[in-house]
Amino acid sequence: MRILISALSVFVLLLTGPAAQAGPIKIKFSHVVAVNTPKGQMAEKFKELVEQRLAGKVEVNVFPNAQLFGDNKVLEALLLGDVQLAAPSLSKFQKYTKSLQLFDLPFLFQNIGAVDRFMATDGSKKLLRSTEKKGLLGLGFLHNGMKQLSASSPLTVPADAAGMKFRIMTSDVLAAQFQAVKASPQKKPFSEVFTLLQTKAIDGQENTWSNIFSKKFFEVQDHITHSDHGYLGYMVVTSTEFWNDLPDNIRGELEKALADAITYGNQVANEKAVSDKKAIMDSGRSTIIELSSEQRAQWVEAMKPVWKKFEDDIGKDLIDAALKANQN
Ligand code: LMR
Repeated sequence: MRILISALSVFVLLLTGPAAQAGPIKIKFSHVVAVNTPKGQMAEKFKELVEQRLAGKVEVNVFPNAQLFGDNKVLEALLLGDVQLAAPSLSKFQKYTKSLQLFDLPFLFQNIGAVDRFMATDGSKKLLRSTEKKGLLGLGFLHNGMKQLSASSPLTVPADAAGMKFRIMTSDVLAAQFQAVKASPQKKPFSEVFTLLQTKAIDGQENTWSNIFSKKFFEVQDHITHSDHGYLGYMVVTSTEFWNDLPDNIRGELEKALADAITYGNQVANEKAVSDKKAIMDSGRSTIIELSSEQRAQWVEAMKPVWKKFEDDIGKDLIDAALKANQN
């Protein structure tokens, strides 16, 4: 009897793993941005490569624009097996790990080159595993770009932001960043930002040129300050259970396809940081404010105390490694 029961459980186990599914393994990739963005393009490239390299074995379906799940639900959906891949911004993992809050510290990375140097260190590899205990596995990091501040009135010095309401992602570091300039941070999903700005329920927001352009925020914000005050990037993430259950050869091919798709997405990110800024400028819908070095220094000074506040949560070693990456 005992032998029969264990034989039966092995059989059930074989039937329930992804390898035992009839037909191709299905991967749903859910994200919140437009297709014509670094993340949107990376996801499409991943689908294309998997279809070429694993035809008939794996099928990828991409759901952009928060069609399937918004920011606050997608990580739970991964754990429930409702989707298999997502790439939320690094600011949206706070419930799962404190380490990724590093990337939200204002004026930490001087530019994308510095982020690349940091990503090449062992410290960043460890960050991919920082959510593992909670059942989520990081598979890679992708850039969007440096964030800019947009608002209904011009922001040149920190005092201009005082009293204004800014939409932020679900990150306490970002909340502290706006509190540091006496503004009021509002945690809201990405899919609601356009309407909140249009109806003037909020005064401003922070995002990259490609998100401001593709979601038309520039059409409902009169001013954008070229502040480069923070980094927006993503962790491509899956459920540990789903990933570990994949047959080794398929997992290996998916890892390669993802690495290639990320390389492509990073190129798109670099191009869009220039072309989408230009498209906004050419539209004439929004004024772009370039800060003098004295004005920029005032923002750095005002927001700097945020680092100390989160140093224990994030870890001083990680902050130091990030700072080192600024030295070319
Ligand atoms: C945001 O919520 O502002 C961004 O993280 C959206 C995204 O995924 O780029």
